[in-house]
Order: sequence, then C-alpha cells, then structure tokens
Amino acid sequence: MRANNSLEIVDFESELEVSQAIADEVVELVTVNPFAKISFPTGSTLQKTYGILRDSARLGRFSLAKAQVFLLDEYVGLPRGSIDSYLSFISREIQEPCGLPLEALHFPDVHASDLHEASEKYEDLIRVVGGMDLQILGIGSNGHIGFNEPGTPLNSRTRVAHLAPETREANARYFNGDINMVPKRCITQGLSTILSAKKILLVATGLSKAGSVSALRTSRMTESLPATALLTHGDTRIFVDRQAYGNREFFLDGSQGGLRS
Ligand code: GLP
Repeated sequence: MRANNSLEIVDFESELEVSQAIADEVVELVTVNPFAKISFPTGSTLQKTYGILRDSARLGRFSLAKAQVFLLDEYVGLPRGSIDSYLSFISREIQEPCGLPLEALHFPDVHASDLHEASEKYEDLIRVVGGMDLQILGIGSNGHIGFNEPGTPLNSRTRVAHLAPETREANARYFNGDINMVPKRCITQGLSTILSAKKILLVATGLSKAGSVSALRTSRMTESLPATALLTHGDTRIFVDRQAYGNREFFLDGSQGGLRS
C-alpha cells in the first residue's frame, strides 16, 4: 500500500483489502463518535465493505445503534418499497444488520408530489445536523459521484437530476439487463452538499473504474468529470485496488470519457 498525489490516492493489492480498509475507517469513526453522521452509497463497490461491517455487527464488535445514516442518492419513479430502490439496498445491507434504528436512516422523499421541495427538505436536514462526519462515495465510469453527472456545477445542492445514458446502461445490470427499466431521474446530494462533509472517502475497484481513476489523477477540476470537485476538499482520500489503479489513460471528449489501453 502507498499513498501519493494531491488528491490522496491510497492503493491496495485487492478489492478485499480496500473493503477492509474502508470498513476499518467506519468502525474507527463510530468507536470514537457513536453518534456519527455517515452517508453511504449504494452500488457493487461497497458491498464487500458492508459485508465486513455486518460480520463485525454479528460478532458484537460494531453497531450503528446511535449513529445517523443518510442516503447519497435515490431513484425517482420506482414503486414505494421496490427492492431496487437505494433505500431498500441500504436497509438490507446496513441499517437492519448493523442495528441502526429505522428513524435514524434518512433519505429524500422521492414519492412526494413536489420533488423540488422534497430535495430542499433533504438538503436542509443535512445542513441542520451540521453535515456528514463521513461521506463514502463510489464513482461512475463517467466520473460521476452520487448521481452528479458530467456537467454538474460545483455549487450544486440536493436536487432532482437526470441520469446520463451511460449511467442507465451501467445500472441496467441491477434491472435484469433491461435499460428501459432503469429510472431516468433521481434525487441526489449535490456536489456542494457532498463537499460539506468533514471527511470523504471515495472507493474505486476493478478495471471498469480504471478510466475514471486515471482521469482523476491527471485532471484539473472540470465539470466534465464531477469527481474532480473533490480537489477542493481538504480531507478526501481515494482508496483503489490494483485493477482500478492500472496504467490506462483516460481522455475527456466533450462531456464523455473514453478509455485507451
Ligand atoms: C451509481 C450510484 C453511485 C455509485 C456509482 C457506482 O449509479 N449513483 O452512488 O457510487 O453508480 O456504482 P457501482 O459501485 O455499482 O459501480
């Protein structure tokens, strides 16, 4: 493992080591501050981390009983209670197994009649609690964080946003490969909402993330690559495995990115 770079990149041999390191960060935070406010992402990248946290909870070594957990983003348009919703994902993976009381799990109301008002309410809640102690992020293959797609301004707040076509394509794997089933809209924490967290850990594993990690290492801040917003944050680390930290080059081509071996 070594750390380098202005946007501190910490690289590990394997996905398992990355997952253990992120789980250790969460456990350490909650040990020091059981009342910590943490925002967790969904997606496959963090699933091993969540598994490690569940195992620790089962052994009585970890609990979110006093913590507050916030969803990073959520689809708009799925039926209430859908197993594909991000709320269901975080409930299954984290909330129930790690002893987080239901009322301490916070999320935007994507079923409200006024979604803009619902977004503002969620933003206000995050502000009122004083922001996150820890924001954990995955990254999209186009460099998105949350659902802040290429072109998102740095000062964006929690809002209704549209998924980029490549994001819907990537997420079709959770909908039996059918892109038509992937919602087109969401409510996501904005970039400036994310940046209000005290500490941020971005996680990228696997070859499919090599392009966005490479771009993140070499790019200056640009709206074409939303994760570069993290360059303005004083306490961000990026945890990668060997595959994501490969030797591939990434070039930005308008608002889209591409890979070159
Ligand atoms: C999704 C989510 C992000 C997530 C990212 C990566 O679309 N909106 O919050 O971090 O894409 O997902 P995965 O870890 O499955 O690659």
